[in-house]
Amino acid sequence: MCGIVGYIGQKNTKEILLEGLKELEYRGYDSAGIAVLQDGDFTNYKAVGKLVNLEEKTKDFVTESFAVGIGHTRWATHGKPTELNAHPHLGESSYVVHNGIIENYASLKKELTQKGVTFLSQTDTEVIVHQFEKNLKNSPDTFEAFSKTIKELQGAYAILLVTKSEPDTIYFAKHGSPMLVGVNKENEKYFASSDTPLIGHCQKVNYFEDGDYGYVTPDETAIFSKNGTKKEPHFCELSQNKLSAQKNGFRFFMEKEIYEQREVIADTLMGRLSEDAILFDELESSLFEGIKEIKLCACGTSYHSALCASYLFERYSKIKTSVEIASEFRYRKPIMTKDTLFIVISQSGETADTLETLKMAKEAGLKTLVICNVDNSSMVRLAEASILTRAGIEKGVASTKAFATQVVVFWMLSLYLAKLTNALEKSEIAKQIALLREVPASCAVTDNMHERIKRLSKRYLHGHGFFFIGRDIFFPLALEGALKLKEISYLHAEGYPSGEMKHGPIALADPELFTIALLPQHLLYEKSKSNVEELSARDSTICAISPLEFDKADDFIPISTCRDYMLEFFEMMVVVQLLSLEISVRLGNDVDMPRNLAKSVTVE
Ligand code: AGP
Repeated sequence: MCGIVGYIGQKNTKEILLEGLKELEYRGYDSAGIAVLQDGDFTNYKAVGKLVNLEEKTKDFVTESFAVGIGHTRWATHGKPTELNAHPHLGESSYVVHNGIIENYASLKKELTQKGVTFLSQTDTEVIVHQFEKNLKNSPDTFEAFSKTIKELQGAYAILLVTKSEPDTIYFAKHGSPMLVGVNKENEKYFASSDTPLIGHCQKVNYFEDGDYGYVTPDETAIFSKNGTKKEPHFCELSQNKLSAQKNGFRFFMEKEIYEQREVIADTLMGRLSEDAILFDELESSLFEGIKEIKLCACGTSYHSALCASYLFERYSKIKTSVEIASEFRYRKPIMTKDTLFIVISQSGETADTLETLKMAKEAGLKTLVICNVDNSSMVRLAEASILTRAGIEKGVASTKAFATQVVVFWMLSLYLAKLTNALEKSEIAKQIALLREVPASCAVTDNMHERIKRLSKRYLHGHGFFFIGRDIFFPLALEGALKLKEISYLHAEGYPSGEMKHGPIALADPELFTIALLPQHLLYEKSKSNVEELSARDSTICAISPLEFDKADDFIPISTCRDYMLEFFEMMVVVQLLSLEISVRLGNDVDMPRNLAKSVTVE
């Protein structure tokens, strides 16, 4: 998640911008920059890596009189983490910072390039400032040019733009990515992506709504809604609790990240879906030439998303697929053939076992691809190609949104490959793409559902163990649900294919064995139901998650009636995530940093 700050006032603008960016470090970033307009001249600094590098570069720069300034911490989604790709991005006499994804940046960039504009970066953001300056040449005033530019953008954005043509003004626009503006008694104006940079500086803030755009000067805060009508700012009291602000008011980062899945999955999809094709502009089709098999390799939750991928690849792409646990693969002297595409999956891109298997595959001459959440990580730098999941920083040790975005990327990749292998008709690909567009809504957390799970969790604080059971792609989801519960509640849980119960596990069935049964309507429902009935008949306590009422369950968590089993998958994913969270809360555990665990296992 990128971070944005802005300031209009008489104080040391550089210090205020850097302090603001420091308060946004929790959002994760790989580069940063500021631009200050003072006495008609711009001063701009950028640095890769941590903010200390930017502080070092700006140490001799002081602003002591009126200035306007903007700053940015970047989490790479388009283009590597480099100084050139760091924000703010410069036109001829304007700078812009942006959080989000400009979905139509490629077409805008093509038009601008044809008109002779030179782009310095690989980012989508840079099109904003060049489009603005193109419009500025043909508009009666600066705000008209800015308004026109915003109307030409598609996608998600929070934008701040400063320009020499209006040296006391900051232009803003918000759609899909958060941003707010604060004011104080000294009439200073502060912008930020979230509350924390404004705490201690402002008393009143206005949270921009989707579609809001406008400008702020020392004397005016002008906000316009999407249809161009001017609206009164709605200033409210700013909370003064920084940690709560970093969690956006949620109790834990994990809770915040479960709720964030809806928006980050929208980012994962952004710019990658056309009507009937998947667009991965980070991939060359040559990567798949001569490939007859796919081998996926990962650890933990990433291993579970890899298992999900194996169902999707064989079903949609018709490519033979196998899945390995990295710590096993490393030492079993595996047979590797050059017609195999080796895909590693990692949220951090630093997991030691997974990284070693990537090195093994490269040494064996295999083509390699990494699905990762952190650009410039060891695996991204080592693999031949990479697809970023765009989940933003994941602070909860128990992975949630990283898993969700990995599965979405795999679903997209299975369709991308299905087109390459002609395994699916265009019409079927289009149907699947329409389903993909519904995934963000499937991950929305409703108050009713969360309240129900919170109430129900009090019944599951003891017992001698949990079975999470599911069939087909719901089996890896069952594994993931069991891992979530183990990780943060410290209760014993196992994920099992529903069909395995009678091959031994059912011996454990009794009222103290809790079975969380995944019962999707659109995938093997009757078979799954009979497996659960076997357990219920032996008095296991059953919690059924399904769109269909199940009379033999002791507890029932309903999901909505979906058009497809993959949408049921994401709804059930949210349920098992919240269930583990609420059980852990009742047990008084440290949800975000559970005992014995680390966020990234960089040692064997
Ligand atoms: C997931 O909840 C765990 N924190 C853990 O299993 C994690 O998925 C595993 O360590 C792999 O990490 P990676 O995705 O960063 O490679």
